[in-house]
Amino acid sequence: MEKTDIQTVTDDTTEKGSAHFIPVTAFDLVVFGAAGDLSLRKLIPSLFHRWRDDQIPPESKIIGVSRSAYDDQSFRDLAFKSFREFHPQEEISDEEWKKFSEQLFYKELDVVSDDVDWTPLCELLDTSGAKQRVFYLALAPDLYGAVSANIDRAGLKSPDARIVLEKPIGRDLSSAKDINEAVGAVFDEGAIFRIDHYLGKETVQNLTVLRFMNSLFEPVWNANAIDHVEITVSESIGAGTRASYYDKSGALRDMVQNHLLQLLCLVAMEPPLDLDPDTVRDEKIKVMRALRPITEKNVRETTVRGQYHRGASNGAAVPGYAEELGEDSDTETFVAIKANIDNWRWKGTPFYLRTGKRMPERYSEIIVHFKEIAHALVQNGKAGIPPTRMVIRLQPDEGVKLLLVTKDPGPGGMRLRYVPLNLSFAETFEARYPDAYERLLMAVVRGDLGLFMRRDEVEAAWKWVDGILAGWEQDETPVHPYAAGTDGPVQAAMLLDRDGREWYHGQ
Ligand code: BG6
Repeated sequence: MEKTDIQTVTDDTTEKGSAHFIPVTAFDLVVFGAAGDLSLRKLIPSLFHRWRDDQIPPESKIIGVSRSAYDDQSFRDLAFKSFREFHPQEEISDEEWKKFSEQLFYKELDVVSDDVDWTPLCELLDTSGAKQRVFYLALAPDLYGAVSANIDRAGLKSPDARIVLEKPIGRDLSSAKDINEAVGAVFDEGAIFRIDHYLGKETVQNLTVLRFMNSLFEPVWNANAIDHVEITVSESIGAGTRASYYDKSGALRDMVQNHLLQLLCLVAMEPPLDLDPDTVRDEKIKVMRALRPITEKNVRETTVRGQYHRGASNGAAVPGYAEELGEDSDTETFVAIKANIDNWRWKGTPFYLRTGKRMPERYSEIIVHFKEIAHALVQNGKAGIPPTRMVIRLQPDEGVKLLLVTKDPGPGGMRLRYVPLNLSFAETFEARYPDAYERLLMAVVRGDLGLFMRRDEVEAAWKWVDGILAGWEQDETPVHPYAAGTDGPVQAAMLLDRDGREWYHGQ
């Protein structure tokens, strides 16, 4: 395929046409919860990759903080061990790691306690004002307020300091408001970076480009032409060692409140005037506000809850969720929702959302099902003439497929075939797809708020999700079992079947 020659206009991480990354300004990044899973599995490896691409200036410091007893060297060793474990395929020499890890430091500190001395941490930080200061809270959300207050009390909040909050922000609207208030009492909204790592994924960013920078799609991107939209985020992993955390959350809070709703907003929003962070976020929030409420009155007909039982994953027997947890639970590990957006553009076009753990494979897809043609020129057996579909594959093999009906070549009758117009990003761009956290961490240092959620967005998402949670409770909505390694409970298929539709299962 011919390479395009369009200059990137909004992102300053790469120079046109080359793999050369523009360094960010030097920074001090303090990671609270540094010995935890997120930090070791995602944050430090992402920082390593940015360092290896020369994007992190040598005077920058990454300072891990937690209650565990490490010093600089033992923390560096721990981080290296984790890197090797989570990136087994990647070649990385001891020498290379040693050089990177000279920028890695550690301080043992109980950050929520009122009577510990923060001086050793303070002494590591630059006070000249030349470096961007960032606090990353890889901690439980109920600690965000207390840690923010302690950062302030310890005098660590420099005028331009930024704070990064991991999702979930709370477990319902009320707790989200409390957290936002508490953090907001210390940091201005413009200094708060609420992470939804799906917004850092390459293909998620591409959604906006696909929709608004090609003249083909926008005229038909509405209820007149689109029958329905599907958003599936399927995971093959189970809750595993996270089960006790996960049990307080469930698929609705863990995935729908944030990742799936963000995807829905990007597919459904009106064209923003420009790519200014607030302009885009204003459009997304209008979609959230237009979501038809789900309450105990309609929760049964619009949602399905499921939980995996014993089954098989990648050919191996795996335990059920309750076995992993060690007790019975009615937390859902799968959820399917029929969402309606009550606005002019989407009147009558449902959005079906589905996510679950221990499904057959790991993939995320958005499928735009266009309406059937108005009049068939030929009969095509029972199947009729299949409608045009657009499959936007977010992971793992990113790309866009437009499924079109064409004539089967050859003499004789008019035989029809469904053929994909296939754009595989990996084949086209031959580029490594960076982990979402690589982009997000650099965006924080650069101050690009567009990839992060604003307070009102998070709260609007909770408001809708709270309706479902309350509906489930009042209606006593059952959690249907499904065998691990399958597509969720049969009730999820019935949700679409009632509308004369079925979940897309490839073609
Ligand atoms: C996280 C959820 O936000 O996203 C996890 O807490 C989930 O439960 C993960 O596994 C999925 O992310 P990805 O990038 O692997 O699709």
